[in-house]
Amino acid sequence: MTSPSQHLLVTGGAGFIGSNFIRFVMEQRPGLQITNLDALTYAGNPANLADIESDERYQFVHADVRDRDAVSDVLRNCDAVVHFAAESHVDRSIHDSGPFLSTNVIGTQVLLDACRDAGNINRFVQVGTDEVYGSLPLDCPDLAFTESTPVQPNSPYASSKAAADLLALSYHHTFDMPVMVTRCSNNFGPYQYPEKVIPLFVTNLLDGRKVPLYGDGLNVRDWLHVTDHCEAVLAVLESGRPGQVYNIGGNNEQSNRELTHMILELMGCGRDMIEQVADRPGHDRRYAIDARRIRDELGWSPSRSQWPDALEETIQWYRENEDWWRPLKANAFNATMLTSKSGGDS
Ligand SMILES: NC(=O)c1ccc[n+]([C@@H]2O[C@H](COP(=O)([O-])OP(=O)(O)OC[C@H]3O[C@@H](n4cnc5c(N)ncnc54)[C@H](O)[C@@H]3O)[C@@H](O)[C@H]2O)c1
Repeated sequence: MTSPSQHLLVTGGAGFIGSNFIRFVMEQRPGLQITNLDALTYAGNPANLADIESDERYQFVHADVRDRDAVSDVLRNCDAVVHFAAESHVDRSIHDSGPFLSTNVIGTQVLLDACRDAGNINRFVQVGTDEVYGSLPLDCPDLAFTESTPVQPNSPYASSKAAADLLALSYHHTFDMPVMVTRCSNNFGPYQYPEKVIPLFVTNLLDGRKVPLYGDGLNVRDWLHVTDHCEAVLAVLESGRPGQVYNIGGNNEQSNRELTHMILELMGCGRDMIEQVADRPGHDRRYAIDARRIRDELGWSPSRSQWPDALEETIQWYRENEDWWRPLKANAFNATMLTSKSGGDS
């Protein structure tokens, strides 16, 4: 496949999905140069890409997407952008929404303006989330979000991501910029920061600690392996139609309770390791994705998200990579977040 890009800018490439995406694209598209622009917030970790940092096709720029000069400078050599950089944890957005509005909305605006003015960007993928659609009721299992479902975000995180999506689409409409928006369900896999539910629960259990389950545990999420997500984003980057939204899902709905039971079983732990905690304020009940558009238009469907195998493989990665997650959990601020009565979810 010929890529429309020779030199791709990835923002937020030191985070969970961005680092998996860079590794995946370097394997799949050996002719492509990649620049990773990342501010290295608490969630950004150079160790996520230690294995490729000396590859001559890869360059890291330590900068903030809100820094217009830095962004414009980097864009000079690039011809396409995949925008992952964001504050990404719902619980943190409930605690303090300021950084979410600033990075997710203003950061996207700065990046879009810089791309528009650079004039050499022929593809722009805004990486979004299914959380922008709000919540589905539990008693209508046939309902799923399509790309024409109205956005109705319920958390400060989801609101900031919805604003970013809409802004990106408005730049397509107003300035004819080649923008595509993706909206993905919950990702799992290696290098996920251990505040998100799967690595939080797995690393707690590896330490003999209980897992905090929010409320009644009946909230339903669709789970997608991060490599399936990377493949979908690459397909949208290369073949998506400008101005379109593409939903991305794993066909893998699980309640948080089912997820917890499966992790406990796969790790040989009993249900006594569950600690019920007060529900997250405004906790969305169910997300479900109708991903027919990306399947029909781009031929993409998930192939690595099947449970229990994909979950077991992920658990194994955290077992084998204690050196990666232990320093993150030991960090004082994270210790405060992670040992509080903050339950596990995306
Ligand atoms: N994790 C999921 O399940 C999921 C699902 C759907 C969509 N998404 C979206 O995918 C994207 C990546 O998610 P993730 O889970 O990898 O997040 P993450 O929190 O692991 O990584 C975010 C990265 O962005 C960087 N960053 C944050 N603020 C920045 C700024 N101002 N300037 C430059 N870099 C900055 C961080 O340093 C970090 O490397 C986000 O846009 C998120 O909304 C995530």
